Amino acid sequence: MNDFTFHLPTRFVFGRGVTDRVGAELAAGGYRHALLVYGQGSVVRTGTLARVTATLDAEGIARTELSGVRPNPEVGLVREGVELARSCGADLVLAVGGGSVIDTAKAIALGVPYEGDVWDLFSGAAKPVAEGKLPVACVLTIPAAGSESSASAVISNDELSLKRGLSSELHRPVIAFMDPELTYTLPAYQTAAGVTDMIAHIMERYFSGAGPVPVTDNIACGIIRSLIEEAPRALADPEDYDARANIMWAGTLAHNDIAGLGRNTNPGGRAGGWESHGLEHELSAHHTQITHGAGLAVVFPAWMRYVWRSAPERFLSFGRDVFGIEPVDAEADDVDVTPEEAVADAVAATIDELQDFFVSMGMPRTLGELGVTEKDVPALLGTLEKNKGAVFGELRRLTMDDARAIYESCL
Ligand code: NZQ
Ligand code: ZN
Repeated sequence: MNDFTFHLPTRFVFGRGVTDRVGAELAAGGYRHALLVYGQGSVVRTGTLARVTATLDAEGIARTELSGVRPNPEVGLVREGVELARSCGADLVLAVGGGSVIDTAKAIALGVPYEGDVWDLFSGAAKPVAEGKLPVACVLTIPAAGSESSASAVISNDELSLKRGLSSELHRPVIAFMDPELTYTLPAYQTAAGVTDMIAHIMERYFSGAGPVPVTDNIACGIIRSLIEEAPRALADPEDYDARANIMWAGTLAHNDIAGLGRNTNPGGRAGGWESHGLEHELSAHHTQITHGAGLAVVFPAWMRYVWRSAPERFLSFGRDVFGIEPVDAEADDVDVTPEEAVADAVAATIDELQDFFVSMGMPRTLGELGVTEKDVPALLGTLEKNKGAVFGELRRLTMDDARAIYESCL
């Protein structure tokens, strides 16, 4: 097990009806003016926004609203939010929504004390500073990205066709309201994409370059097994509270680092090489209609098929712990396969089973289903190299030729 540093400052308020406690909790924290950020209307239609604002009014907490955050959020609205937060004197950014809204709130919060263009923080031209940064609170409406307690935010820049993640401990929200009943209204596709994203967050860490860490590996595989059980329940009955609640909490555990501790290859950093996320972010940067989890449903299995020979034991333990798949024992089972073939078959069966699970939830199997064709690949590779460098990855180092082969394998 490798050394690590872990600090989770987020206070979680979880359960039925916690949406009605937002104002009281924020007032107890001493907050007086919220920049209230939300998306393209779901929170208006579902009544969630009205519930939240009623609790703010009841506590005399002022608010300034910024709406219209789109999925795969864009830096233009972040710039607007930074100006608004400064001019209204907000002492908190309150996100009501999912990863896109929370990431926008996080970027605004870090942008407030920075005098230059907030994109500099994402391009790497400037480093975020703690002094003057606004705290972030969130009311989570879709379990998926894990942004409610993660140390990252992902923002797109349409002009540059770039989507950039910024990892910083400063990002972690101070308080997350998690009311599973808010997720009853989610379209099935968003539920499925969210579950796929969670599983991907765990697998990025599981398939880091580190050796086995049993305590963390068991947490990781246990969460994935639970998701495989709970997701079909939520899809069959969107108002199954326990399924929704388990999925919601799983999304948080998947990405707040608990499922990767000790698997990080540098002590201060996050576990894993995040290869599949790197490959997916190019898809949703160039094709902004692509839902992040749906892109991952295609590229993650493709990456696994491409790299598994670099760490067969790791893939075997994943197959065993998640799906109960064991390689055939040629002698005991009296079948005619070499040990190498038995391992390859078990790994292939594991990846097939994982991909079939994604597809069974309604996720795509190919890039073609997402509207991406062979002619799009050069543009993806162009920005991938800008974002990740000419060689990237941890379990296996990948060149741009490798990345091309992975994209082409799932067209
Ligand atoms: O915009 P509205 O109208 O609110 O609709 C949203 C949106 O269309 C809708 N929705 C949300 N809650 C709903 C609902 N519809 C009905 N009922 C509800 N209760 O769902 C759609 C998707 O929302 P979005 O916030 O985009 O989803 P998600 O949470 O999956 O976030 C995706 C973004 O997060 C980034 C992704 O790249 C993508 O940009 N990620 C952020 C991470 C982080 N900060 O740690 C890590 C992830 O790996 C990921 O990259
Ligand atoms: Zn993700």
